[in-house]
Amino acid sequence: MGKEVKNVEYGLEKIFEGAQDFLPLLGTDYVEFYVGNAKQAAHFYKTAFGFQSHAYAGLETGIKDRASYVLKQNKIRLVLTTAMNSESPIGEHVKKHGDGVKVIALWVEDARLAYNETTKRGAKSFMEPTVEKDDDGEVVRSGIYTYGETVHIFVERKNYNGAFLPGYKKWDSDYNPTPTGLKFIDHMVGNVGWNEMNTWVKWYEEVMGFENFLSFDDKQIHTDYSALMSKVMSNGNGRIKFPINEPAEGKKKSQIEEYLDYYESSGVQHIAVATDDILTTVADLRSRGVEFLSVPPQTYYDEVPERLGAHDHELQEDIKKIQELGIMVDADEEGYLLQIFTKPVEDRPTLFFEIIQRMGARGFGAGNFKALFESIEREQELRGTL
Ligand code: FE2
Repeated sequence: MGKEVKNVEYGLEKIFEGAQDFLPLLGTDYVEFYVGNAKQAAHFYKTAFGFQSHAYAGLETGIKDRASYVLKQNKIRLVLTTAMNSESPIGEHVKKHGDGVKVIALWVEDARLAYNETTKRGAKSFMEPTVEKDDDGEVVRSGIYTYGETVHIFVERKNYNGAFLPGYKKWDSDYNPTPTGLKFIDHMVGNVGWNEMNTWVKWYEEVMGFENFLSFDDKQIHTDYSALMSKVMSNGNGRIKFPINEPAEGKKKSQIEEYLDYYESSGVQHIAVATDDILTTVADLRSRGVEFLSVPPQTYYDEVPERLGAHDHELQEDIKKIQELGIMVDADEEGYLLQIFTKPVEDRPTLFFEIIQRMGARGFGAGNFKALFESIEREQELRGTL
């Protein structure tokens, strides 16, 4: 620890001193949702978010127990999977949690090594290293459980040239809505139960070699009514960032508690996707029917110059347009960022998306937490869950 490690072969550079290097991660490989109707969900992500048809597995490809649609936009791959019979654990997952994220897959050089290193350190096995082959080569995958019923699957694809994974065929569609400028996954946030945040922080440190590089307590993250705590975990090269939230006591019910009630366990709260032109992306998403949390009040925008501080003169975007679209602004020592949050994308108030554009800032919009949570509370009020 503490030494500068450069992995020349993969261009990985260690940026977090305390993070360990027994689990080199090349990036997010895919995110798999278990859903009630994958065909319709795929249509939604294409139409509303501009994802592209990429690969498919199901009855037509010899898969009997499930159907999976793979969607792609730049570096982001979403897999939407549904059960084909009542015996399926996929169906059980949907019955308990509703639609939600089952798999956060991580791209690795060696899936056997990733499995051995993490299970040796206490990870619970989900899938032993498994070789899958077809005419395009072979993929090795292995998997471990993280919080709730969520899993990390390690994907080794250096000997594979196919569209996605063996068993999938390329999906050519006649319906191809234009992309909305979503580039890659910036971070993925997990909600865990009361007093469990530090357990999972320790788990990511010990089992995955991550480092806790930012922390927010309930004194920083609260409104008049509710509160939460959050710690941000990162792997060594900074490509994978997993903030972990837990509820905190307030006068009313925390949004994290609402999530836990409806997801019926810990799970993924939001997926933050990066764009390099948030004004165009958000205008496009809105026109396609994506619903965002309500626009912050005028007072919020009056305070933007103050929030930007030393970075005020760097703001390249028109503040009027930012306000019209309901986008939020925050800054840290290194720069500023623009962000906005969708409403939950399913009927249960569980998973939602964040759209983020970083202009130097590496933070998570702490200056926006209060305005954001007040906006969520207005929604909770309508749901009767505050
Ligand atoms: Fe976020």
